Amino acid sequence: MKNINNNIIRPVDITDEQVYLKRRHFLQLAGIAGAGLAFSGLPSRAEAELKPLQTSPSKYSTDQTPNSYQDISTYNNYYEFGLDKDDPVRYAKSLITDPWTVKISGECDKPGDYNLEDILKPHPLEERIYRLRCVEAWSMVIPWVGFPLGDLLKRFQPNSNANYVSFKTLNDSTQMPGVRRRVLRWPYHEGLTMAEAMNPLAIIAVGLYGKTLPNQNGAPLRLVVPWKYGFKSIKSIVEISFSKKQPDTSWGRSAPREYGFYANVNPEVDHPRWSQARERVIGTGLFAAKQPTLMFNGYGDEVAHLYSDLNLRKNF
Ligand code: MTE
Repeated sequence: MKNINNNIIRPVDITDEQVYLKRRHFLQLAGIAGAGLAFSGLPSRAEAELKPLQTSPSKYSTDQTPNSYQDISTYNNYYEFGLDKDDPVRYAKSLITDPWTVKISGECDKPGDYNLEDILKPHPLEERIYRLRCVEAWSMVIPWVGFPLGDLLKRFQPNSNANYVSFKTLNDSTQMPGVRRRVLRWPYHEGLTMAEAMNPLAIIAVGLYGKTLPNQNGAPLRLVVPWKYGFKSIKSIVEISFSKKQPDTSWGRSAPREYGFYANVNPEVDHPRWSQARERVIGTGLFAAKQPTLMFNGYGDEVAHLYSDLNLRKNF
């Protein structure tokens, strides 16, 4: 991530508490929290084009109150559109998400090019309200719409050599002005062990707040791995590949001392340039106290067993 000195609080971080609580109350009364009505004010043209999605609730959702749609869709990291938090909402309108093809490659029996419809069709959608903890020591709660990553991967029949799975984002300088600057190894790429990918908490998200994803949040499909720092949750995926060896990652190539392959949320292992012990909760206001960061972002019961043989200081 950029230098911590850039991690300053700006007006866009602050939700008007009264407006937020009233809106939440209204949604609860109407029984439609998560149905896409939490947009603040009039939607922009890009927001108006988002499509409603049918979802069912998930047992994996946190009962914490989600951040506002405004917070979630205007405070983003999507370096292909610039380094500032409001660059993605300003510039990601140029991303063309239809048609969209995902290439499946590597150690599996069903490689090929799949269009978005092929990818999504068989999968019932759930609302998964997850905490997102960014490596920059802030967090949000996001009502994603998606389905288990493992259900998708199984369809491509990974073979016995498939120990890892990696993902790539689109890399097109005509649509993504940020990739003209070599701030990262493009295309953005990330990876998981197969055991991590098959964990039921890992999802492919295709929407939030009951509608399709806004471009700045990674339309048309992205990964969400809630027990890991947010940079593992790669956006706008165009390739999924199975491999025997641990794959490279963009952040690992750019700054190996700072961004390990595992990237589990761990308050006991500091980033070399800042502490990971506490986090600023986006939307709580300028003077709110930071809250303690939880091991595995609070999802230890579901995922700690994946790491029982690993030294999490060495494998950070
Ligand atoms: N994916 C791509 N392709 N490019 C990025 O810059 N940023 C990551 C992750 N996925 C990023 C990405 C980081 S650092 C974070 S914290 C999350 O996306 C932010 O997701 P959000 O903007 O939807 O909250």
